[in-house]
Amino acid sequence: MPLLELESLSAHYGRIQALHDLTLHVDEGEIVTLIGANGAGKTTTMRVISGIRPVSSGTLRFDGEDIGSLRADLRVVRGISQSPEGRGVFPGMTVLENLDMGAYSRKDRKDLGPDLDRVFELFPRLAERRSQAGGTLSGGEQQMLAIGRALMAKPRLLLLDEPSMGLAPQFIQQIFRIITEINSQGTTVLLVEQNAQQALQRAHRAYVIETGRITKSGTGKELLADPAIKEAYLGVA
Ligand SMILES: Nc1ncnc2c1ncn2[C@@H]1O[C@H](COP(=O)(O)OP(=O)(O)O)[C@@H](O)[C@H]1O
Ligand SMILES: [Mg+2]
Repeated sequence: MPLLELESLSAHYGRIQALHDLTLHVDEGEIVTLIGANGAGKTTTMRVISGIRPVSSGTLRFDGEDIGSLRADLRVVRGISQSPEGRGVFPGMTVLENLDMGAYSRKDRKDLGPDLDRVFELFPRLAERRSQAGGTLSGGEQQMLAIGRALMAKPRLLLLDEPSMGLAPQFIQQIFRIITEINSQGTTVLLVEQNAQQALQRAHRAYVIETGRITKSGTGKELLADPAIKEAYLGVA
């Protein structure tokens, strides 16, 4: 049984249909990436999974349970945690306070030490800046904080929406390395990226989304070698 399963799932903004009959799944332990151009529907897919946007038709299952009409905060309790596009760090709160917010939905909030240690091991820069206001961090550091905050919920499934967006090259490499590390520690990852090269290299499997429809799927390696993918997403003629 897949950990996450979308079956013929559609979503709308008012009368505009953003997702058309999306079918995809993520198995426990995988990194799955969703690649696509700007406006293809990647963020909408993430929002529907995390519960920020409603499902208009189709089925959304997590760990075998239909969660399509479950409140977003209860999905966090089930084990789905999102690092949103554009980071969403609380600028007036310190790094530690931001991380603490990530654990908000947990019942075992007294025992955050090991999780903070895990985040600080993955992101030593956050440890150094733990008392600094989130809004004063660099773009790359805010991205780390957003991922760290999502990890504080102890997710089974981590949703990452464009973690490399707007980052300097040295940060991009680092973020992708850390995603692989998080996954090897046992967290399943659904990764949305415009940096298709890096995402496909890191992912076990991938889906291509075009104007709200899945048009291709395969292993990361298969899609990296696909001439149409190379031309459309990897900048190779
Ligand atoms: N808040 C919104 N209101 C209306 N339309 C939206 C909204 N957000 C996104 N859309 C539309 O939904 C489609 C998919 O957008 P999005 O999921 O953000 O794409 P991506 O993340 O792949 O760039 C686009 O056509 C976009 O214009
Ligand atoms: Mg997006």
